[in-house]
Amino acid sequence: MVDILIVRDLKKYFVKKSLTGTDMETTKIADGISFSIKTAETFVLAGESGSGKTTIARIILRALEPDSGTIFFDGQEITNQKGSLKKIRLGCQMVQQDPYASINPRMTILDIVKEPLEIHKIGNKDERNRLASHALSQVKLEPVGDIISKYPHMLSGGQRQRVAIARAIVTNPKLVIADEPVSMLDVSVRIGILELIKELQEKHGISFLYITHDLSTAGYIGHRIAILYRGKIVETGPINEILSSPCHPYTQALLDSISNPDPENLHRDHKIRINESSGIQEHQGCRFMARCPYAIEKCKMEPELEKISETRHVACFVKIN
Ligand SMILES: Nc1ncnc2c1ncn2[C@@H]1O[C@H](COP(=O)(O)OP(=O)(O)O)[C@@H](O)[C@H]1O
Ligand SMILES: [Mg+2]
Repeated sequence: MVDILIVRDLKKYFVKKSLTGTDMETTKIADGISFSIKTAETFVLAGESGSGKTTIARIILRALEPDSGTIFFDGQEITNQKGSLKKIRLGCQMVQQDPYASINPRMTILDIVKEPLEIHKIGNKDERNRLASHALSQVKLEPVGDIISKYPHMLSGGQRQRVAIARAIVTNPKLVIADEPVSMLDVSVRIGILELIKELQEKHGISFLYITHDLSTAGYIGHRIAILYRGKIVETGPINEILSSPCHPYTQALLDSISNPDPENLHRDHKIRINESSGIQEHQGCRFMARCPYAIEKCKMEPELEKISETRHVACFVKIN
């Protein structure tokens, strides 16, 4: 199958003054991130809050420039390439965590869903209305005739996220980045949104980059997963294999925070929450070493992602499974 997105060796460091104001602190948000997403695949990027997931999404959408690295979208390099901005902005749409923050509360639902068509000058007014209504029926906001004239505050949180999804698919994108799309929703409506994403993928062959801190929703929806820890992917491969037999101690620790990654767990909130051993970002060797119960002498060197099977890679000298 064809790769719709290829991210190669992406680096982005933020430098800010330390609390004392005398030193500079470097946060390595992306420290050599590489992954690819196939057509009609859901690829999960999982990590704790603050691990850099949204920053990576913003770099892909070219809302933020990386320090280095290359990104290919639909066969074309989009980093630093003139003329490629339109391609990525049209072909890749984003659904954000907070539907209330990502849609304009003063616009009607019809105008919200239609806006990307206007931005990209697609169709005339009648066609835009028709495409927007169609997108609303695709996300099952019906009767569409009633919904289009409403304002966001008149809808529930789940319905608002459906509006955000309709807005994302109205331009017929090849890739949708869904950044924690259900984490702010009531647990009772989460599964409906995940089912919708699955259905849209099956119908239209859309690829998804599903960003989450929650491995139980990831297990429900994803095909492959990358586990992000302090700017590095520490383990990646098919989601079923990784959730059933993790090789990296950090993945194991994340899984321990969910007793059982089955759909039942969607009804509870399973955050990736592991205590930081220290706030210091600078490290030598494996970045998980200070928190790792299996650390050995060799871990003072930095482990690179290593192939352990046809489909799996892990950056760990110990490999617990
Ligand atoms: N423009 C910026 N300048 C400096 N630091 C930033 C900037 N954007 C994000 N950060 C920092 O980068 C870290 C990762 O942020 P983010 O990508 O939002 O993480 P996540 O989505 O995984 O929660 C946070 O500590 C945040 O404070
Ligand atoms: Mg985020």
